[in-house]
Amino acid sequence: MKDSNFLTENNARHLWHPMAHPADSLANPPDIIVEGEGVEVIDLDGHRTIDAVGGLWNVNLGYSCTPVKHAITEQLNRLPYYSIFRGTTNDAAIELSFMLKEFFAPDGLTRAFYTSGGSDSVEVALRLARQYHKIRGDAGRVKFLSLKKGYHGTHTLGASVNGNANFRTQYEPLMQGCYHIPAPYTYRNPFNETDPEKLAQLCLAALEDEIRFQGAETIAAFIMEPILGAGGVIPPHKSFMPGVRALCDKHGILLIADEVITAFGRTGAWSGSRLWGVQPDLLCSAKAISNGYFPFGAVMICGKVAEVFEGDTSGKGASGSAYTYSGHPVGAAAAVACLKETGRLRVKDNAAERGTQLFQGLLALQDKYSAIGDVRGGHGLMCALELVADRQTKAPIDKKIIGAVHRTTYENGALIRVSGNNIILSPPLVLSAADVDTILSALDAGFAAQT
Ligand SMILES: Cc1ncc(COP(=O)(O)O)c(C=O)c1O
Repeated sequence: MKDSNFLTENNARHLWHPMAHPADSLANPPDIIVEGEGVEVIDLDGHRTIDAVGGLWNVNLGYSCTPVKHAITEQLNRLPYYSIFRGTTNDAAIELSFMLKEFFAPDGLTRAFYTSGGSDSVEVALRLARQYHKIRGDAGRVKFLSLKKGYHGTHTLGASVNGNANFRTQYEPLMQGCYHIPAPYTYRNPFNETDPEKLAQLCLAALEDEIRFQGAETIAAFIMEPILGAGGVIPPHKSFMPGVRALCDKHGILLIADEVITAFGRTGAWSGSRLWGVQPDLLCSAKAISNGYFPFGAVMICGKVAEVFEGDTSGKGASGSAYTYSGHPVGAAAAVACLKETGRLRVKDNAAERGTQLFQGLLALQDKYSAIGDVRGGHGLMCALELVADRQTKAPIDKKIIGAVHRTTYENGALIRVSGNNIILSPPLVLSAADVDTILSALDAGFAAQT
């Protein structure tokens, strides 16, 4: 590693950081993380904090997951790369597909298509949806519906179904044929409805209205996160996703669950779809599939969709989607080890228990600090605080204040993520009760100092 003078001097000078303004990164250079241990990260100055962001919702098993590290090393030594394009495959890719089929059996998903990450998984799922309808002779079904506030990565098709202007405006025009409906977001919604169940019904009515307006015969798929993540952790009422499933069935529309965050235990269930008792047609996964140690993803495909592709004799079912790193043996080996550890540790159970503790603690902080306008969570280890300047008007808080809360919280032992006027918490699923207490006390110190 280069010495600290070199790193500090060159920090943000020769690279542009994702999801950041280059001028801001120069003015406020990012913390330089140099080590990870357990659920903690250590910066260049030796300051140790709990990683309450869990990498980026992906380091579910923490930074010291030896079986995954060993699997990566062993695979690198034996076969560092081989493609699974037509005609060849590799042993790790085969083993993983068997394990994924078993893991997602309760979700009705039987086949895997490998990708290099979440945006790729979304892109492939959307493409498969169009292709599915074309193979069936329903070529007019090309449109996509999605939720405002939803996040589906940054490829152009994914950005087109994204429901947040921040990730769209500078890249327009995006893909035609993508339409959005209101999210079941009780704190702010066009219906001014605060009751989650009533709001879910209103959003479902808006969905059906849009389906009728567009014409069901023009719509390929509806894509949603079972719990909206990057948009500010928005858990819908439990009736919402089953309601979406019913509408999709009624109108011949495929349901894509974007579970890049929610698969593998984060919500306290093994998948977000399972949390709500829904079987999607396609499921996008990535992130925790390899504990974030190797870029990898998989789109899972249900039996009904698989049959259409596998039974096709016209040639239309051939895959025109591919990444050089689809089925990368090192990523697949990491995922095999990761799935074994995920199951052995039953991380969903700890996510549920620690998630409740974290959520209750955040609600207590809301009683103490008026800047916390809304607390969202209650389903595993994904929570958010929405900060406001005034609880009545819900005007967003000054960015400088939220930045200062972030800094003081960091100094007091917890790394948190700021996104717009939200503080997002998505710690590793293996954290302890004491770790949750540390996150809460660090946040308490952060708010006490600024508000
Ligand atoms: C729900 C969801 N979909 C897609 C993505 C994109 O994944 P990636 O950043 O790995 O491309 C993300 C990333 O946070 C996500 O949260």
